[in-house]
Amino acid sequence: MKITSQELARVAAAEAPRFDMYTGIHKALRAFMADTLLAVGRMDPADDAEVARTEERVLQLLGFCGAHLAHENAFVHAAIEARAPGASDRIAHEHEDHVRHIERLAQMAARMGAASPARRHADALELYRELALFVAGNFEHMHVEETAHGAVLWARYTDAELVAIHDALVASIPPQEMMAIARWLVPFMNPLERFHMLADVRAKAPPEVFDAIVDTALPHLTAAEWTKLARALGIAPVRGLVEA
Ligand SMILES: [Fe+2]
Repeated sequence: MKITSQELARVAAAEAPRFDMYTGIHKALRAFMADTLLAVGRMDPADDAEVARTEERVLQLLGFCGAHLAHENAFVHAAIEARAPGASDRIAHEHEDHVRHIERLAQMAARMGAASPARRHADALELYRELALFVAGNFEHMHVEETAHGAVLWARYTDAELVAIHDALVASIPPQEMMAIARWLVPFMNPLERFHMLADVRAKAPPEVFDAIVDTALPHLTAAEWTKLARALGIAPVRGLVEA
């Protein structure tokens, strides 16, 4: 059966997907949000050390979310508004709501940490429910970004331009924040996404940055995931030994 040029074009398009700057970091956010919500839910309010650890974890998540939306405002929304004025309005308003929600959740976490043991059970349950609502809202919000915003970016920018915007965003992130992102980004991608992400880091960043990101992610990968990644990157499966 003869293959038409239209079919070939369709196959070529399927084999070369457009550059997607949202999905990877949003998988990291979904993982960090879900993990933290579950940690608050199972926390023992009578265990001082666990309460302190959980409060710290919630504050780390909130810091991560605040930094993420600031990066989106500065780089992604700016790019959308430059070529499709008004297209990021809805999501920009949601970001303003998220900033207020983040502040409220940080206050609730601090209140739980400082509460008397008698009050802590009620404070923990209140924090758990409020964090669940924040996570629910963010899951819907990220879906809109990945679909509606992604479509606007693809319609108005070439892949080379999108890569340049994303590179500028990544270059603006301080090293300590980058390691916190790597901890949630690398483990919760699928193997192909993980390989592309690390190959990109290896091509663009100094070797010590690549090594630090791999070392941060490694404890959170399964043996099978690490074997696939090491093979794809052409590095030794046992870290610190001979590199292939
Ligand atoms: Fe967002």
